[in-house]
Amino acid sequence: MSTTIKHFLRDDDLTPAQQAEVLALAAELKRSPFAKRTLEGPRGVGVIFEKNSTRTRFSFEMGIAQLGGHAVVVDGRSTQLGREETLQDTGRVLSRYVDAVVWRTFGQKRLEQMAAGATVPIVNALSDEFHPCQVLADLQTLAERKGELRGLKLTYLGDGANNMAHSLLLGGVTAGIDVTIAAPAGFAPLDYIVEAARARAELTGATITLTDDPVAGAKGADALVTDTWTSMGQENDGLDRVGPFRPFQINAALLAHAAPDATVLHCLPAHRGEEITDEVIDGPQSAVWDEAENRLHAQKALLVWLLEQQGGPGTRP
Ligand code: CP
Ligand code: NVA
Repeated sequence: MSTTIKHFLRDDDLTPAQQAEVLALAAELKRSPFAKRTLEGPRGVGVIFEKNSTRTRFSFEMGIAQLGGHAVVVDGRSTQLGREETLQDTGRVLSRYVDAVVWRTFGQKRLEQMAAGATVPIVNALSDEFHPCQVLADLQTLAERKGELRGLKLTYLGDGANNMAHSLLLGGVTAGIDVTIAAPAGFAPLDYIVEAARARAELTGATITLTDDPVAGAKGADALVTDTWTSMGQENDGLDRVGPFRPFQINAALLAHAAPDATVLHCLPAHRGEEITDEVIDGPQSAVWDEAENRLHAQKALLVWLLEQQGGPGTRP
């Protein structure tokens, strides 16, 4: 029995080998959705949202039910989170009720603070900086389409400083994928995340390319990925989040620069006509609906894996 709590706050919280284990389990659970009853009891998982959600909410709640557990789904805006008590104290208290906490919030620091007090795994269900559960689903989707992940070339186009860009960078190189971030000037990934990705890429042999040229970025890519140009919480940040991004739209012309069998991903919700066109998202190279489905399988695998790491649910250090 391990006494170390393994959290999943950002993509590099899983080593390359651990990420591969989670992805293999995700594929197994997609084939056999009820093969694991890790949360039988029911054991509880807290699922807290401080930002809106459709996919994350449905996939976690259903996934926890399929594992035999109970999801306590809470709108964080109606709790005392970080208001009347420290996040460390909230982490300590929630750990007495549930076997894991899944949390969608703003700054990454908030997750780190709760994790510091928790004695159960904390899972990042999207923060301003990272969206690691989404990238597990993205990797599962690419593995289904392409087989081996190592050596693939993935290009993300759009806001290079948002949670999806950061997680694709960090999670992508962890899987051995060569990752390109193509973003307008002023929207490059945060330096500390690029550094973490470079450190991880040294282990896996992956490469990292940062560019402000969408065509050069897309050239020969096995996967093109995009996301909204305005993430939740950025609506009034005073930046022009349309004009500079237009050349980075995934449309048929840009897709033609990628490999002929390139796969297109988008975490959704999609803003059709902005970051992606109808012809692409509804076209034969789009995998976005499988990608959305894979949130369910990948997150179930993650929860099972995290709980098994510490000797099963109910185990406290
Ligand atoms: N992709 C994603 O996280 O979707 P939701 O915001 O709907 O959860
Ligand atoms: N970057 C987007 C992702 C939504 C799932 C946001 O944070 O709003």
